[in-house]
Amino acid sequence: MIAQTRKAVGLLGTSDGRKQLKRSVARRLREQFMYPIARMTGGHNPFAPVKIAIEPTNRCNLKCEFCARLYWDEADNPEDDIPIELFEKIEPLLEKSPKVILQIFGEPLMGKAFFNMLERIKQNYDCHVGFNTNGILLHRRNAERLVRLGADEVYVSIDGTDAFKEIRGIPIKTMVRNINILNEVKAELGSTKPDVGIAMVAMKKNVHETADLVDVAASLGIKNMWVAHMEAHADYLIDELLFNHVELARTHFDIAKARAKEVGVDLVLPPLEKTEYFCDQPFNTMWINWDGAVRPCCRAVYANTIDIGNLYENSWEEIWNSQAMKDLRMSLLTGEGMIEFCEKCSHRVLCKDHLVRILPRGNAEEGRPTEAATLDQETQAEVQMNA
Ligand SMILES: C[S@@+](CC[C@H](N)C(=O)[O-])C[C@H]1O[C@@H](n2cnc3c(N)ncnc32)[C@H](O)[C@@H]1O
Ligand code: SF4
Ligand code: SF4
Repeated sequence: MIAQTRKAVGLLGTSDGRKQLKRSVARRLREQFMYPIARMTGGHNPFAPVKIAIEPTNRCNLKCEFCARLYWDEADNPEDDIPIELFEKIEPLLEKSPKVILQIFGEPLMGKAFFNMLERIKQNYDCHVGFNTNGILLHRRNAERLVRLGADEVYVSIDGTDAFKEIRGIPIKTMVRNINILNEVKAELGSTKPDVGIAMVAMKKNVHETADLVDVAASLGIKNMWVAHMEAHADYLIDELLFNHVELARTHFDIAKARAKEVGVDLVLPPLEKTEYFCDQPFNTMWINWDGAVRPCCRAVYANTIDIGNLYENSWEEIWNSQAMKDLRMSLLTGEGMIEFCEKCSHRVLCKDHLVRILPRGNAEEGRPTEAATLDQETQAEVQMNA
């Protein structure tokens, strides 16, 4: 107790220390009181979200075969970029939320306001900013902007080594080149940030390459590699789910684990057996699409899922404790009155059935709608100009 008091008094002496102390007190209060208060008040949450995701754009320069963008109803999910006026409505939230994900759907580095938002967040707020990217636009000019503006974390999506080309339509060497560029720029500018990780979506056709990808990570000095189950948005992809090939997946995951240990990569693998979780997303996170629609979780970021409001019509506080949000929280706390979308969600119960056909409406019965993309002309030109 005395040591803790001394530490707290020490922290009061500097502005960073005071911030740290304020955060730690807020975290403790939240941990202790958030769920009991929500239970007693029908789902009210007096604490702000700790993490917000902002969608710079839902446009993309690729057509990865498993991506919901290929199968969703285009009329319900029009493509565009977030206007900076909407970002200004989000800014009051940045005072409260320590973590920002600058991406939801689409390729964030294509977002017209991406770097403007990054700059404003890092200059004016004390937020950790990270995002996933397909890595194509990680050329020198963008790498320099990310480092200079202080992005904290970048996960590059690489789904295997050889299979990657079939899935994403580009060779892995493009990713390796771009991550090397980012590493060089960090070294030149004397920065350790952004931390770079690899995000892999695992399926039958690439699971045997998990260990090879661990080697690629190690060769690029990457410490963190995150593997996730594919969600099958189209019927022809269901056979690719690892839950349909558990023994195969286990064998390759074991090889990858051993390799990761050897080369010093922190590898996070998904469970291969049915697993239950408590979903805390509507208590802690807020997902804001480019058009101002606010969603409670990463799973509900398409049209016609869980609508809790729009920032053009309501403040974030009104949305955060709207009746829809409170009902959602109560259903997760008590298990009563749960909507079907949550009942069948892999973030609550991870199993084969919950990884199939997540889109509420779309063309999911059909096969792959187009060939894997080659880069569009605009992207090709930009990559060449900046390589
Ligand atoms: C929707 S993408 C947006 C960011 C960026 N375009 C990218 O590909 O990294 C965010 C993450 O979701 C993953 N993802 C996309 N479709 C998926 C699916 N059907 N199942 C699981 N993960 C998926 C991507 O691999 C990526 O790591
Ligand atoms: S890069 Fe692929 S996964 Fe990411 S948004 Fe584009 S199509 Fe979807
Ligand atoms: S259970 Fe799934 S759909 Fe429901 S709030 Fe959680 S992540 Fe979203």
